[in-house]
Amino acid sequence: MKTSYSSLAFLAAVAVVVVPSATTGFVVPTVVASSSTSTSTSSLNVAAEPPSAPSKKLISPPKNIADLKDTSEELYDDNVQSTYGRYKLTIDSGHGCYLKTTDGKEYLDCVSGIATCALGHNNPVLTEAISNQMKKVHHVSNLYYIPEQAALAEWLCANSNADKAFFCNSGAEANEAAIKLARRYASNNGITKPVIISAHQSFHGRTLAALSATQQPKYHKGFTYDGEMVQGFDACTYNNIAELEEAVIRATSDGKGLAAIMLEPLQGEGGIIPGNVDFFKKARELCDKHKALLIIDEVQAGMGRTGTLWGHEQLDIIPDVFTSAKALGGGVPIGAMMARGDAASTFGPGDHASTYGGNPLACAAGLAVAKYICDNNILDNVEARGQQLKAGLEKLSKKYPTVLGDVRGWGLLRGVECIADDITAGELVAAAMNEGLLLVPAGTNVVRFVPPLIITEDELNIALDRLDAAVKSKAN
Ligand SMILES: Cc1ncc(COP(=O)(O)O)c(C=O)c1O
Repeated sequence: MKTSYSSLAFLAAVAVVVVPSATTGFVVPTVVASSSTSTSTSSLNVAAEPPSAPSKKLISPPKNIADLKDTSEELYDDNVQSTYGRYKLTIDSGHGCYLKTTDGKEYLDCVSGIATCALGHNNPVLTEAISNQMKKVHHVSNLYYIPEQAALAEWLCANSNADKAFFCNSGAEANEAAIKLARRYASNNGITKPVIISAHQSFHGRTLAALSATQQPKYHKGFTYDGEMVQGFDACTYNNIAELEEAVIRATSDGKGLAAIMLEPLQGEGGIIPGNVDFFKKARELCDKHKALLIIDEVQAGMGRTGTLWGHEQLDIIPDVFTSAKALGGGVPIGAMMARGDAASTFGPGDHASTYGGNPLACAAGLAVAKYICDNNILDNVEARGQQLKAGLEKLSKKYPTVLGDVRGWGLLRGVECIADDITAGELVAAAMNEGLLLVPAGTNVVRFVPPLIITEDELNIALDRLDAAVKSKAN
């Protein structure tokens, strides 16, 4: 029978049958012709006609964003929820490692959207890839095969120990997927009270489960139920083997079971604290012993930022699961949860899903970033610039011993401690901004450098000179 979807008569003569969807996690209604029954709107308790609303004239957005030049900060305060403390700086445009504000000032950007714009701003390769994809098709549901998604998954698997990818839109979402995967994996192993151990001072994102894995009480305040976040999380001090072993004993007693150990290879938000090889090897050993998953959060450290494609390559371990986001799309939102071995086949159709996850536009961006990293020896640049940054920061630390302390990090994910009693890391960042340099604090007292991975030797020298001037202005 040939179907005509415009015919009301047809709608009255169909029944809705459900089949499981491989992608959406829901069921797909399939329209099947029926010779007898019809579904009346009254039996579904749906009003036949929508109530007529009084007509309201829509207000168009401004034709040109440049027209907002002087008023955009006011517009923010009036219309945007105040979840962020913002610097008084309104970004107009960007090029390479530089950002321009609406009042015409140029800043050397060593923040890159917090470790996200790996290829800098307005990168022609990324721009072309996204433009071309927009002209072809930019979003379709995961109800269908998406070649760009397959190609990006293949690149990620070929350049890691993972076997399969799940795509989503952000770091928090990638970590939510990893947490759900660990719970399902534990459930398959008969564990009904699965525990995930993460580290104090960690950061895994702002959704409720990712936030529960984030062991920083300041982020939990006001979000608990009867004082509790999502159940099933425990903590140890990062890089502390004895505490990790104690946490595993707690996680495997009283009817509980260890589902996963979840760690950043280098704690970024926690204050630029690199992982310790022995600690990570012990975590791997404990996961093997208890058939639990070792989950590595590569959201900030991954995609080349530490000088290797993945931060965990610095730690001589192979994770069961790792997550990526931020630089994965070079600033176009995309996240991935990568899994290997049995973990890679734990989710089946309907177990997890995301509307935008791995859509053609986001994956075209991911592929462009991947290709750029490979074609332009970006990892070599990160290694060389990372050494230059380390040497430069250590020199400044020696020059200003009462203001700057320990220099830490890997590759182009580095920080210097601000040790002065009367100057905060935030104040140093503000002073750097006055000198035309964008930096971002990390932890309680660290000034963090996360520039685009394409930064040149000359640009990094300029950044170090500007930090020198900023520290000088505060030290005097
Ligand atoms: C290690 C780590 N995990 C997860 C996240 C959360 O990522 P998103 O903000 O994309 O949800 C962040 C963000 O800073 C991060 O640094």
